[in-house]
Amino acid sequence: MDKILIHGQRPLAGAVKISGSKNSALPILAATLLTSDPCVVQRVPDLSDVHYMLQILTHLGADVERASGIVTVKAEKVNSVAPYEIVRKMRASICVLGPLLGREKEATVSLPGGCVIGDRPIDLHLRGFEALGAAVRVHGGNVKVLAPSLRGAKVSLRGKFGTTVLGTGNILMAAVLAEGVTIIEDAACEPEVVDLASFLNKMGAKIEGAGTSRIVIEGVKELHGAEHEVIPDRIEAGTFLVAGAIAGREVTLNRVRSDHLTAVTDTLRTCGYHIAEDNCSLTIYPNGGPRSLDIKTQPYPGFPTDMQAQMCALLATANGESSVTESIFPQRFMHVSELKRMGAAIELDGATARIHGVENLSGAPVMASDLRASAALVLAGLLADGTTEINRVYHIDRGYEMLDEKLGSLGAQIERVKV
Ligand code: EPU
Repeated sequence: MDKILIHGQRPLAGAVKISGSKNSALPILAATLLTSDPCVVQRVPDLSDVHYMLQILTHLGADVERASGIVTVKAEKVNSVAPYEIVRKMRASICVLGPLLGREKEATVSLPGGCVIGDRPIDLHLRGFEALGAAVRVHGGNVKVLAPSLRGAKVSLRGKFGTTVLGTGNILMAAVLAEGVTIIEDAACEPEVVDLASFLNKMGAKIEGAGTSRIVIEGVKELHGAEHEVIPDRIEAGTFLVAGAIAGREVTLNRVRSDHLTAVTDTLRTCGYHIAEDNCSLTIYPNGGPRSLDIKTQPYPGFPTDMQAQMCALLATANGESSVTESIFPQRFMHVSELKRMGAAIELDGATARIHGVENLSGAPVMASDLRASAALVLAGLLADGTTEINRVYHIDRGYEMLDEKLGSLGAQIERVKV
């Protein structure tokens, strides 16, 4: 198991290229199961979650080829069962359920368990499949969905914590091959849903309204192969912006979509940072320390939950008191106890972290617990005095392509140690 050592307080300067979006690539790769034609997906990031998805596609019968960020999938025939051994490694495996149901009219996928960011039910996905006419049965740790035929229907995806991103993708992928019109109300508006819909439309689907809370899908008889480039990863970009805020002289991110990052750039500007936007790039300039702030995570276009942990790291040394409220995953605060080991003064009050800014953090051995919490620890390590040792870095490798190399190229003193 690798660990990462960061010798903090080194200035960062220069430019990095942002990779393709993990959370866009995963459902788009799953969507290739909807046709027997070859599909080509470009700018697929080299991450362990992507490797798991390619393993699942292979297990389901697809031929998969990968060469420098370009993945070609040809799913001439598919089997509709994804067992536990193969799906347990990644919760996003659940997004093969929609395309398998759409194409084969049945699917059995092992249920994803909870994870450290909280209980992660799939009731809204199942509600959507049932509305399309599928019978749903949960048995022996698997969910089986079966529909002699899928019929278009009206379905709301509103749940206790708002809508669902992968659930919206799953219903989209089943509904494109249903008979008649499906209307998804309370759909997720995330750019990753728009990217999936745009890929599906290139495959011959008829989807309108993606990016709004009402998506209309007119079912078609079949889909064909398509080529698509995945959008830039807005969460990787946001993480590098925070790195630039923490330790930057002047850090530029290239190949970004700044329109996908408005909530993050607005928040950092409120914190006192100057950010310049130019075509496909963003540059963040130092300001001598962040101002305190109150943040609440919200579905897109609000402040993303996937950037919450990173902001906690930044605000740990803000001047004054900040609060960070998590409204999507109320238990997503695993980073707090590790940040406290580095000297942060944070109290948890329900789903709110109250952060009293301290002068500085100090390097310490810490444990990565999930993807974004791990990113927060890397950022804290850049800020801290001394050496931070991050263990269990496989969490980082699930979602950040070459994070240590990219930070190293900006001037961070960061090394990966094989244990
Ligand atoms: N929820 C339900 N029922 C459902 C589905 C979700 O109650 O059937 C609840 C969840 O428990 C949560 C909220 O609804 O409280 C939102 O969950 P959502 O379904 O939107 O999350 P997801 O689709 O499983 C994706 C990203 C996450 C990101 C969330 C929210 C992927 C692969 N994952 O998860 O990304 O945090 O949307 O934006 O796209 C990450 O990249 O680190 C990550 C966790």
